[in-house]
Amino acid sequence: MGNLFDYQGKRVVVTGGATGIGAALVDLLKELGVEHLTVLDIKRPEVDVDAFVEVDLADKGSLDAAVARIEGPVHTLFSNAGVAARSGLRTCMAVNVAASRRLTDSLLDRIPAGGSVVFTASMAGNGWPQHLEAINGLLAIEDWDEFLDAAEATEAAQADVYPFSKACMQVYVMRASYEAIRRGVRINSICPAPVDTPLMVDFRHDMGDKVIDWSVDVQGNGRMAVASDIAPPLAFMGSDAAAFINGVNLLVDSGFTAAMTTGQADFSALA
Ligand SMILES: NC(=O)c1ccc[n+]([C@@H]2O[C@H](COP(=O)([O-])OP(=O)(O)OC[C@H]3O[C@@H](n4cnc5c(N)ncnc54)[C@H](O)[C@@H]3O)[C@@H](O)[C@H]2O)c1
Repeated sequence: MGNLFDYQGKRVVVTGGATGIGAALVDLLKELGVEHLTVLDIKRPEVDVDAFVEVDLADKGSLDAAVARIEGPVHTLFSNAGVAARSGLRTCMAVNVAASRRLTDSLLDRIPAGGSVVFTASMAGNGWPQHLEAINGLLAIEDWDEFLDAAEATEAAQADVYPFSKACMQVYVMRASYEAIRRGVRINSICPAPVDTPLMVDFRHDMGDKVIDWSVDVQGNGRMAVASDIAPPLAFMGSDAAAFINGVNLLVDSGFTAAMTTGQADFSALA
């Protein structure tokens, strides 16, 4: 049967592999024996990879040019790149949602049965049920520019675009997985709590230290996640060990959501 967790014989694409969670995933995939690793990023990764394709995922033309440069079949696509609200509503919705979707759609024909797509969404997107109608309406729009225009006009995106973008991703996973599995391809996401990566500077700027530190406190484990806490669940989700997992947004939040759901989170520090 071989090792269900390894990546031997697999060709993998990782977006946002230059820093943070993506960089930790690149290191782990190499340890797991990946056959061929392509990184798509606006920045060059510091470590050696088989192929680096420079791309601005906020730009449809740049994304399409990058897709044309990806060689061969792709067994696992990790659509991981993301930006914070500080980048602006349109860029945030473009990189976090439109690019993830377009990349998936563009590569789906090249993902053999048994392959998978894994997004790095976020527990910040857990509020999707409150916005389901708006999100379903948006995701029904295929055209890149029309989608972004409609996102700009959406109240929930205007109110707080980063969590809204991740809510869109969680819903997209559930929608897209239905069709994809009919050709043998799984689509899932990993939904981390705050992680100490370069992006944390932007989150602290956008949300304030109080909220971030409180969320870490609710976790109760005494520390914020680091990138190497998130890479293994991503690798697992993309591996054959997860062969029967499809359409799932897997929380990797050390219990934050469980505490919130059961009313055990202490809000006094936020007062
Ligand atoms: N750090 C957190 O607290 C946290 C929590 C939950 C989810 N996430 C998600 O994890 C993913 C990875 O983020 P991270 O925390 O490792 O941050 P990061 O900033 O270290 O990594 C993001 C990567 O995406 C690349 N990137 C950014 N904009 C791009 C663009 N326009 N085109 C191409 N590449 C671009 C960056 O160069 C970088 O390599 C993101 O989707 C983020 O939303 C992060």
